[in-house]
Amino acid sequence: MRYILFIASFLLTLGAGAQNLTIRHLSDTHTMIRVSGKDRYVLLPVQETAQEARVKVLSNGTEVLAANVSLAIDKTDYLVPLDLGAWSGSSILLDVRMTQGRGVRRDPSDDVCWSDMTTAPVFDRTNQEKAYRPLYHFAPEYGWMNDPNGMVYQDGEWHLFYQYNPYGSFWGNMHWGHAVSRDLVNWEHLGVALAPDALGAIFSGSAVVDKENTAGFGRDAIVAMYTSDGDNQTQSIAYSNDGGRTFTKYPGNPVIVAEDTPDFRDPKVFWDDQTRQWKVVLAAGQEVQFYSSDNLKDWKYESSFGLAYGNHNGVWECPDLIRLPFEGKDKWVLLLNINPGGPFGGSATQYFVGSFDGKTFKCDDLPTVTRWMDYGKDHYAAVTWSNAPAGRTVAIAWMSNWQYANSVPTKQFRSANSVPRDLSLVRKGKEVILKSTPSPEVEALRGRPVQYTLSTAPVDLFENPQRAYELVVRFTLPKKEGATFVLSNETGEQVVFTYEPESQTFSMDRRGSGNVKFSKSFAAVTTAPAQVGGKMELRLLVDSASIEAFGEDFCMTNLVFPSSPYNTLKLYGNLKADVTLYPIAK
Ligand code: FRU
Repeated sequence: MRYILFIASFLLTLGAGAQNLTIRHLSDTHTMIRVSGKDRYVLLPVQETAQEARVKVLSNGTEVLAANVSLAIDKTDYLVPLDLGAWSGSSILLDVRMTQGRGVRRDPSDDVCWSDMTTAPVFDRTNQEKAYRPLYHFAPEYGWMNDPNGMVYQDGEWHLFYQYNPYGSFWGNMHWGHAVSRDLVNWEHLGVALAPDALGAIFSGSAVVDKENTAGFGRDAIVAMYTSDGDNQTQSIAYSNDGGRTFTKYPGNPVIVAEDTPDFRDPKVFWDDQTRQWKVVLAAGQEVQFYSSDNLKDWKYESSFGLAYGNHNGVWECPDLIRLPFEGKDKWVLLLNINPGGPFGGSATQYFVGSFDGKTFKCDDLPTVTRWMDYGKDHYAAVTWSNAPAGRTVAIAWMSNWQYANSVPTKQFRSANSVPRDLSLVRKGKEVILKSTPSPEVEALRGRPVQYTLSTAPVDLFENPQRAYELVVRFTLPKKEGATFVLSNETGEQVVFTYEPESQTFSMDRRGSGNVKFSKSFAAVTTAPAQVGGKMELRLLVDSASIEAFGEDFCMTNLVFPSSPYNTLKLYGNLKADVTLYPIAK
């Protein structure tokens, strides 16, 4: 039967969605598409629930690109562009292997992907996500994003690379996408910077400016180090001599390998003044490892840290080691992202405060202490910019959680980043804590402020509800009194913020915030230790699908998917609050 099907489909030239595509089904799992004409893109129809097909691009008979694409079976959710620009003028053949199941189920030619597939000179990037595309947080134009990668500052530009799937709005085909900004809030999209190769997909990593040409790639080259996710995870480098616009992979890759070390990834490179060497910190199972190098190519293992320290209820990922001033001296802070194991389930960022002598990190705390950088559910893979100006340490986090990142209710793109945050160490009682403050550049977005006094009567924020704004709420709490603020919309969807004096906590309740049904892990109340009492200030950064709360001694980042913008602010408690509302001027 299979044999007959094979012959039949081989003989048939089925109608193509566009005259530039000649589609032939060679078997129930194998299709070849001859691409003719001058169009730059083949638009591939995606159905998110379909099993992935392996799509290979052959240029003059040689494989030049391969990607896994969930080609649509019975309904096209959206189109993704296969960019053939680099091979224009050559003879292009797409070789498509379906997974077993689909061909057996039905005749391969029935799948809607073949009739919906087309070619086009341009790919339409116009925003289709009217409700949930953020106005002032970074999000990819289309496709999937997770961790921020390779953040480096050079010549007035803040580079942001990120884990990127250009062939679907869910995790897979990991590339580095690229964007630049001169002010940390307006971003120019620059497309793909690094694509998978024979060593594997391009997993997370970092980048530095090689000012003294230690690697021999050129003075001021941007050198990126990333994980090649192949059969094993290894670390590779690539360099750019044109301000990050194009990268060349180092022919000697990989540069760091390890034996029998699963979850060996996410290298963060930094320059160490103490030893005048490059260092890298990377995740290796349940610990981090440090390596040193004089040239970014040859690396020597120095030490490991972390077994038995902090939280180990998940995989250790995306570390960063930063140096921060504290009371006249410097301390070192190790950022460490963990998934699952976060305080409210899934992903979160923990940190360790200590010292680093160029070889070894020593933690100031007892091993049993766990500290969290952000007390929301949607703050992950936080790492900092290299070479930031004015001695600043600026971090950004992926604003999602692996529990539900792939199923949040957007289609054209999935995931956004937090606002950039300047980091500092501050004293809280006997402790030294890591404080995240929205970078000053975020304040430049503030439009003309409106003042409110909030007491028993609720306040409507805008005449026409807005999706993006900032609220600064100032109030004084009498001893042993708490306060509750509620942001709600016209349909009664609401987010509840509570200061609780007995437990000395701040919490955010998003259980009734709007669409919470797409994952059973989404509805949640998140709670942070917070000093409650006396003069208080709460900053809420609201965007289409997120709320970031900043207090004196905590921050909390949570996604929300309301059916219309929250426009009413209510206060419960025996007090008055001064509210400043800043529209976002963007
Ligand atoms: C963290 C992570 C990294 C890895 C990347 C893959 O979210 O799992 O450890 O490099 O995502 O996309």
